[in-house]
Amino acid sequence: MPINLFEYEELAKKHLSQMAFDYYSSGAWDELTLRDNRAAFERVKLKPRVLVDVSDNRNLSTSILGQSLQSPLLVAPMAFQCLAHEEGEIATARAANKAGVGMILSTMSTKSIEEVATQGNYSDINSSSNNSSSNNSNNTPRWFQLYIHKDRDLTSNLVKRAYAAGYNALCLTVDAPVLGQRERDRRNEFTLPAGLNLANLASISDLEIPTEHGESGLLLYFAQQLDPAITWEDLAWLRSLSPLPLIVKGILRGDDARRAVEYGAKAIVVSNHGGRQLDGAIASFDALPEIIAAIDSQVPVLVDGGIRRGVDILKALALGASGVLIGRPILWGLAVGGEAGVTHVLEILRNELSVAMALCGCSRIQDIDLSLVG
Ligand code: GLV
Repeated sequence: MPINLFEYEELAKKHLSQMAFDYYSSGAWDELTLRDNRAAFERVKLKPRVLVDVSDNRNLSTSILGQSLQSPLLVAPMAFQCLAHEEGEIATARAANKAGVGMILSTMSTKSIEEVATQGNYSDINSSSNNSSSNNSNNTPRWFQLYIHKDRDLTSNLVKRAYAAGYNALCLTVDAPVLGQRERDRRNEFTLPAGLNLANLASISDLEIPTEHGESGLLLYFAQQLDPAITWEDLAWLRSLSPLPLIVKGILRGDDARRAVEYGAKAIVVSNHGGRQLDGAIASFDALPEIIAAIDSQVPVLVDGGIRRGVDILKALALGASGVLIGRPILWGLAVGGEAGVTHVLEILRNELSVAMALCGCSRIQDIDLSLVG
């Protein structure tokens, strides 16, 4: 049984086809940003506070946009989870519910918006709330990640379906006007195996992942279907489609963060897409301080990329993040053990965060502050 997230990755490799492992694990071009995301956490050192009574059960709970979390993390949006396990996004959603953490469903999921909402036990997370409506503000983050397709009707339909199914925010990815060039996918001519499809788009047959000799099918899909012309002005249109709060994911600069808020974003995700888009982009953890300063507490700021230990979560919170997104390690848990594997990965992170908090003299999430970072 793996005892940490690195061991989960090693084991997952044995459970996955080469094409699937490469798709999940790769970054763009030389994978500099992929590696630097991790190194950025390793560079930051902590100055722990001592002789604080941490004997009570540590309280890891927090909230974002009025939505509660039992620990400050959300499952990042990740495509094609059925490549890891037959239950795919449904297993991930169930594990996230059980752990009381957030989940962001990808537009490119292999289980549909509705299947994940109904079979992923979304009703469980709403049952503790007084309001039976699934769009109430008390529940746990169940966000839908959006890619804007050239076909605006199709895009609008995705948003409306997510709202109708009870998702409680829309998370727009803004760092992918074109897909980053991942050479392992190109070499593997990445495509979905028979039996898997884009579950949210499956009724539209020409939106299947194409194949072409010497190219990644996903890169071709992006080039054919996604709109590289979107600008800030399109956010108003997007916001008009539903009452869901809009979160903008993929920001690495303070001025863009401020602009996102001006254009109505209710939260920001500092992200370089797991090093999968612009290789050479700044590590997301390194970009965090500029964005925290620019946002000046107007909206919550989340960060993802390279988080493999609970102590990394503490570092991100110390720099001012309200929470973190966890990506690849969730897929490793899913590949190794389905729902139970994801549950275990989330437990490892929670336990490590709790220990890191105790060792830093923090009993509650609110006790984690900038003074802990050296
Ligand atoms: C899809 O969003 C990917 O990064 O592969």
